[in-house]
Amino acid sequence: MRFTMKILLHLLTVILFIAGTVLAGDYVRPPPRKTLHFPWDPKSSSQPQQVHISLAGDKHMRVTWITNDGSSPSIVEYGTSPGKYSAISQGESTKYSYVLYSSGKIHHTVIGPLQDNTTYFYRCGGEGLEFQLKTPPSKFPVTFAVAGDLGQTGWTKSTLDHIDQCKYDVHLLPGDLSYADCFQHRWDSFGQLVQPLASSRPWMVTQGNHEKEKILFLEDGFVSYNSRWKMPFAESGSTSNLYYSFDVAGVHIIMLGSYAPYDEHSDQYSWLKADLLKVDRKRTPWLVVLFHVPWYNSNRAHQGEGDDMMASMEPLLYAAGADLVFTGHVHAYERTKRVYNGKSDPCGAVHITIGDGGNREGLAHRYKQPPPEWSVFREASFGHGELKMVNSTHAFWSWHRNDDDESVRSDQVWITSLIGSGCNTRGYFKKGSLASLGGGLGTGFLLILAGYLSLQAFHKRKNSYFALILETVCAAVLTWVMGQRYMQTSKIMPAGVVAGISVVMTGFYLYKIASGGNHFPSKAE
Ligand SMILES: [Fe+2]
Ligand SMILES: [Fe+2]
Repeated sequence: MRFTMKILLHLLTVILFIAGTVLAGDYVRPPPRKTLHFPWDPKSSSQPQQVHISLAGDKHMRVTWITNDGSSPSIVEYGTSPGKYSAISQGESTKYSYVLYSSGKIHHTVIGPLQDNTTYFYRCGGEGLEFQLKTPPSKFPVTFAVAGDLGQTGWTKSTLDHIDQCKYDVHLLPGDLSYADCFQHRWDSFGQLVQPLASSRPWMVTQGNHEKEKILFLEDGFVSYNSRWKMPFAESGSTSNLYYSFDVAGVHIIMLGSYAPYDEHSDQYSWLKADLLKVDRKRTPWLVVLFHVPWYNSNRAHQGEGDDMMASMEPLLYAAGADLVFTGHVHAYERTKRVYNGKSDPCGAVHITIGDGGNREGLAHRYKQPPPEWSVFREASFGHGELKMVNSTHAFWSWHRNDDDESVRSDQVWITSLIGSGCNTRGYFKKGSLASLGGGLGTGFLLILAGYLSLQAFHKRKNSYFALILETVCAAVLTWVMGQRYMQTSKIMPAGVVAGISVVMTGFYLYKIASGGNHFPSKAE
């Protein structure tokens, strides 16, 4: 009897196994993994911990680390040979408190100028381990690793191990880093987890909802994130660590803030507009944008959360010819066709949601059915992406699924840049261009009218005050418009020069009016 039961149980197991394999296809999706634990070591108080680097303007890198010892200096010694430091940089430090938690001393030190595509050896605070980093190349090809919503679980570790295996120059992270969620020691353990990778290649990050740790009116929303993950916002003309831009080889990368104001009257909107105006596509043929909450997402998770930001900012990105947009937030992978205004558009950007780094919340499995026409590939699995910009026109994108701790390339596509496609040759900021044309023609007509009236008055040996006032107003308006343009673009030609000439003309006309106009000799003289 017992023998028969054993055989029956065995048969049942075999049937269940076969049924499971047939129903699930050839990939059995694993469950979320537990959060890893990294004990904070209070003994080595002046030893640098949580070391990471980020790009900090042309040929410069920011080194960030934390010490428990408040007297540890913010210096970085560095050079191109191990143990030999030919240069030293002095930086700054900060610290913060959050409810009962007090952070260690957070050091930020900018090093450089650095040579391109070169390995440097460096030491933080004058003691401890030697680290090494590689600077990105100045020309194509250049490779980016992309992974969002990392967290600090067993799956995070798996994702980081796979990224470590690929040859990449810069890590891009579209938000949700540590999942500290107000438990500040989790920021420290996250810093320790990512140190091996983040100390050797620049990590460029933007904020997600898990970076926002506001407790009613008690705490600033991003105090931990801004203190620990300082990005080159000042270097890119931004006033907030929540949005900034930088160049790598021939790629201009814009990091936007899904959790900073983004409407047309916001600082972020003005900064984005000005930053896009400065982009020189001859120098940086690729335009890539990252932020946290996706605009194109056919997963049932977080539907509609990005709609307001999309309504505000998508027209700017479209007019500027953005090639690629990376987002996170939805814990799954999805790639779209080129899209704009909710549908396929050959001049829009390819949107890639890559919020599948491995956090403790697990995957977002449920999708809208049928898929929208713009959705090309979607899958709820953990993984990371690699973006290789081969040259000014071609890039190869691949997504690597964490298939039972093995990196398996599951989606891939060649992407052609919008440069040379005819898409962004229609005029920069269409509305702005039309307004400029209208304004220019109108001002020209008024100046011709003023000239005609002045000539008529001159024949009568009189002044036309109407013409003088018209000329003054035109010159003043031109000063204001071109002054604004100069402030936005920092370009001397033509904005700076025209603003300078028109301010002199305004002063001249005002002097004329004040001094009683032209003084004509009588006809006899
Ligand atoms: Fe997330
Ligand atoms: Fe998120």
